[in-house]
Amino acid sequence: MESNRGEALLQLDRVTVQYGRFVALRDVSYNIFPGQMVSLLGGNASGKSTSIKSVFGVAKVTSGDVYFNGEKITGWTTERRVRAGLAIVPEGRRLFRRMSVEENILIGAVNRKDSHAVKSDLDNLYDMFPRLVERRHQLAGTLSGGEQQMGALARAMMSKPKLVLMDEPSMGLAPSMVKKSFALIEQVRDAGTSVFVVEQNANAALRIADYAYVLRAGELVLEGTAAEIAESSEMKEAYLGKGDS
Ligand SMILES: Nc1ncnc2c1ncn2[C@@H]1O[C@H](COP(=O)(O)OP(=O)(O)OP(=O)(O)O)[C@@H](O)[C@H]1O
Ligand SMILES: [Mg+2]
Repeated sequence: MESNRGEALLQLDRVTVQYGRFVALRDVSYNIFPGQMVSLLGGNASGKSTSIKSVFGVAKVTSGDVYFNGEKITGWTTERRVRAGLAIVPEGRRLFRRMSVEENILIGAVNRKDSHAVKSDLDNLYDMFPRLVERRHQLAGTLSGGEQQMGALARAMMSKPKLVLMDEPSMGLAPSMVKKSFALIEQVRDAGTSVFVVEQNANAALRIADYAYVLRAGELVLEGTAAEIAESSEMKEAYLGKGDS
C-alpha cells in the first residue's frame, strides 16, 4: 500500500476543478512519492492537463487540496510553487522560438542567485542532453519536436526542482523519438527528481512509470502499479492494443 511508502511529495486530496459550471475534474486524489515517476493517463478532454495546471497553480481548485513537500499549497501563486520546487514542461513545450536554445534553458534558472552553480548545472545538463550542446546557439523555433522536448525538460531541470510536471511529452513525436524522450525522463527520475507525466500514449508511459492513474471524463477510474495497469483488462480495452508506442 501507498501509505507504507512514507510521506507523499505531492498529494492531491479530493480535488475538483470547475470551469464555470463544467466539471473538468471530479474528486480526484493522487499521490506521488519521492523518487517516483508517476503517469496520469486518459483520452482527450479527460482532465489530464487540468490536473497538471491545478498542481502548478494555473487552474483554480474548486474544492479539495493540493499538498507539496508537506505543505498545503492549494492557494499559492505559481511563482511560490516554483520556489518550493515544482517545475513544468507544458503541453506543446512552449520554448521561446526567437531565443537561442541556451537562453531558453537558462530561463529555468531566473530565480537562482548561485551563478557558479548555475554554470555547472548547465554543464551537467549538457552531459545529459548532448544533442543540445550542438544546438545551444540555434534559435529554439528551428529545433525538431524531439529536441524541443529536450530543451523544455532541460529548462525545467535548471530550477533544480523536486518534482517535474510533464504534459504529453510524446505529443507529435515519431515512435523512435518517443522512446528517446522517455529514456531521458527515466534518467531524470533515476538521478533523484520525481516526475509526474501526463500521457495519452499509455504504452510508452507505462514502460517506465512506477505507478499510474487513469482518468475518464474528469473522474479517476483506475490506479495501480504500472504493471497492474498494463495488465488490467479495462485498460487494455480502453488504450492498449491500438498499436501505439
Ligand atoms: N479554461 C477552460 N475553460 C473552460 N473549459 C476548459 C478550460 N480548460 C479546459 N477545459 C475543458 O475541460 C476539459 C478537460 O480539459 P483538459 O485540457 O484537462 O483535457 P486533457 O485530458 O488534457 O485533454 P487532451 O488530451 O486533449 O490534452 C475539456 O473538456 C476542456 O474543454
Ligand atoms: Mg491536455
